[in-house]
Amino acid sequence: MQIDKNVEKDGVIFMSIKDEENSGAHNGNSQGDKNVRTSGCSDEVGAEPDVTILAIESSCDETAAAVVRNGREVLSNIISSQIALHTIYGGVVPEIASRKHVEKINGCIRAALNEAGVTLQDIDAVAVTYGPGLVGALLVGVSEAKAISFATGKPLIGVHHIEGHIYANFIENKDLEPPFVCLVASGGHSHLVLVKDYGEIEIIGQTRDDAAGEAFDKIARAIGLGYPGGPKIDKAAREGNPDAYSFPRAQIPDAKYDFSFSGLKSAVLNLINQDRMQGKEINQADIAASFQKAVVEVLVDHSVEACREYGYDKLAIAGGVASNSLLREQMEKECAESGIRFYRPSPLLCTDNAAMIGAAGYYEYKKGVRFGLDMNAVPNLSLGSRERRFHAGSVK
Ligand code: KG4
Ligand code: ZN
Repeated sequence: MQIDKNVEKDGVIFMSIKDEENSGAHNGNSQGDKNVRTSGCSDEVGAEPDVTILAIESSCDETAAAVVRNGREVLSNIISSQIALHTIYGGVVPEIASRKHVEKINGCIRAALNEAGVTLQDIDAVAVTYGPGLVGALLVGVSEAKAISFATGKPLIGVHHIEGHIYANFIENKDLEPPFVCLVASGGHSHLVLVKDYGEIEIIGQTRDDAAGEAFDKIARAIGLGYPGGPKIDKAAREGNPDAYSFPRAQIPDAKYDFSFSGLKSAVLNLINQDRMQGKEINQADIAASFQKAVVEVLVDHSVEACREYGYDKLAIAGGVASNSLLREQMEKECAESGIRFYRPSPLLCTDNAAMIGAAGYYEYKKGVRFGLDMNAVPNLSLGSRERRFHAGSVK
């Protein structure tokens, strides 16, 4: 995977992520060969026509657009990251995020279409994240997608952000098919789910308090590493001793796949306060390594145990925390020992992007899901039990 990066005048980082295998620029996937499947079945009689989706993501601090063909081929993947703008405030400022999305979204979409070598007329549908996320941020993507759908007459598909994270696994793992267990750990969510089929997701565990990524961010701030916490703890932990401190691993008796990170967070904060009161300097690297080990152990144990209990032999990880190097390493090891096939997206596809929304949008499209122009942003959209719309009045 190759990234072309450009830091813009306002500090926003514009990235174009190219997958050597799939990129439109590399295999000549222009509108001319739009209706021919190249993934091994172009000679088949009656092969299904290609489905090209323009996908949009704006749920937090990344404005992203991508063109995805048949759910798994990324023709273009553009991310405009505001992370540098929010760093000085120690977290995402919703109002700034919304304003930047408004400024950047058209440029991202234009770049995504150009790089894929397609126009709005060549796409089959527009998919957009409509929740969960920051309402003002979501609304920018939703309004843009509705406008494109209205202007072109192309179908509109609402995608659940967390489902998008799960579907990121399909992009690089062409052989992955449901059913599988998936651990979704991001800044706002920690879920353990059974992906029974495309779009059929059953939650078997979730966090009782903080999300895993949120815990990383809070501890990083407390030990002075700053924002964004996950990557900084990941890096600092490499220099530290993971056994320097023994932090608690919460087990919830009546719900063994649920997570709780608040006790762990309090234990780390107490340690920092004690050290400070005694005039000791805190050891950032040791705390980072011991904290990370505690989080990762729980995430891995729960996931592997779920595979065993439910009889699944495939395990995937998703969400920003899935780019954590220790989590990837430990999952790999434990899965190998338990005869489970382990899947994970590249780190760039773990954090927010629109290619994953295009992947999820494709499978929704195939199921016939169509939203109308009354689509709204749903900041607390729940996973699994969400309403699916097959709108009579939708744009066909
Ligand atoms: O999925 P994501 O990009 O956005 C949400 O949907 O929330 O996840 C962001 C979260 C942040 O909390 C960030 O600290 C965490 O993912 N994260 C990591 C790593 N990279 C990002 N956590 C642990 N280790 C990492 N390497
Ligand atoms: Zn996310």
